[in-house]
Amino acid sequence: MEQYIIKGGTQLKGEVSVGGYKNAALGIIAAAIMTDDTVKVENVPDIRDIDILIQVLQDLGAKVERINKHTLKINGAKIETVTADSDNVRKIRGSYYLVGALLGKYKRAQVALPGGCNIGSRPIDRHIKGFEALGSEVKIEHGLICAKADRLIGAPIYFDESSVGATINTMLAACMAEGQTTIENAAKEPHVVDVANFLNSMGANIKGAGTDVIRIKGVTKLHGSEYSIIPDQIEAGTFMFAAAASKGDVLVKNVIPKHLEAFTAKLMEIGVQVEEFDDAVRVRADKRLGSTHVKTLVYPGFLTDMQPQMTTLLSVSNGTSIVTESIFENRFKYVDELTKMGASIKVVESNTAIITGVDRLTGAIVNAPDLRGGAALVMAGLMAEGFTIVENVEYIERGYENFESKMQKLGAIITKVDSNDSKAIKKFKLKVS
Ligand code: EPU
Repeated sequence: MEQYIIKGGTQLKGEVSVGGYKNAALGIIAAAIMTDDTVKVENVPDIRDIDILIQVLQDLGAKVERINKHTLKINGAKIETVTADSDNVRKIRGSYYLVGALLGKYKRAQVALPGGCNIGSRPIDRHIKGFEALGSEVKIEHGLICAKADRLIGAPIYFDESSVGATINTMLAACMAEGQTTIENAAKEPHVVDVANFLNSMGANIKGAGTDVIRIKGVTKLHGSEYSIIPDQIEAGTFMFAAAASKGDVLVKNVIPKHLEAFTAKLMEIGVQVEEFDDAVRVRADKRLGSTHVKTLVYPGFLTDMQPQMTTLLSVSNGTSIVTESIFENRFKYVDELTKMGASIKVVESNTAIITGVDRLTGAIVNAPDLRGGAALVMAGLMAEGFTIVENVEYIERGYENFESKMQKLGAIITKVDSNDSKAIKKFKLKVS
């Protein structure tokens, strides 16, 4: 097991470039097998969840070639099976997009129930509702989602509550169904739009992605394409919040500022200076920040994936703040770890954190409970006095490419070591003391 050691107290300064959006990439890479032609996908993040999905595609018989660190060529002509039932499938959430992709192309799919971060119960009933509306029979058997249809027929689908995953999965299957599908109360998140744009670049006919009504006219065949994935709004947001937390001055490059508006608004409200450029944002903080109230919501509201970073920043801000999680019911596990560092946070009714800003955090040994909670603890380590050890960094590496080296380039004192390598830990501490 690996861990980060961080010596806190350095201001982050300089420039950082954001990579491709993990949550868009998962949908796009799964969708790429829906044609027999070769698809070239650029700006793919080099992270663990993507490596796992690539392995899953290869196990199905797809040819996946990494032509450089961030570019893949995918060919799904020789898919040999529609059954994806390996441990890898169960390790990530995004593997559920194979149901929509295989069902759309082959009218059959058997895919193990997905894994992913333990941040709530994460049912897939809305995905099933989407597939069933298109005429597919769906059963959960032996831990597999088994979907089959003689024909997929376009249909109106209404989601009572918005779901990113169910919207993307339904779009995947519907773009190769007969006739027109309308998804009402569709998720509007940027990655829904990116997957729709990618499918359209392959010859699909999807209109309205980014609004709450998506209209899809089914096509019989998709073709090859070259496509570049949008920047990761969560990676961008994490660096914006880390810059503010360290009282630094960071230019976060290769972003779409529109996707960051909810973060920018909250940062400015508590006293951070944020300047927007065409494809970059500059984040500066030079004083103690103020308090605020935040509720996570679907896009364009404040993203649940930035909730831990927000709470962490507020833990040392002036006054009392309230952060309410409305998307996932179990997304405050990192709070116990922050408390070990001296934060004063009380979680009530399991979805509301009441944060009384303290003057400082102090370094401690903490455990990353999930991807975003882990990134927030690294942020806490940057703010804390002394040394912080963040254990279980594999969670963080699932979604952030070269996290520690990007942080190091901004001046953070952080390194990754094997948890059992006490010599390396001592050496790092001596070197930076
Ligand atoms: N939900 C259901 N039934 C469903 C689907 C969703 O009840 O069939 C519920 C969920 O339990 C949750 C809410 O609806 O309470 C929203 O879930 P959604 O489907 O929108 O999320 P997801 O597809 O499971 C994706 C991202 C998450 C991100 C959310 C919200 C991927 C692989 N995951 O999850 O990303 O938090 O959308 O934007 O795209 C992360 O990157 O760290 C991460 C957790």
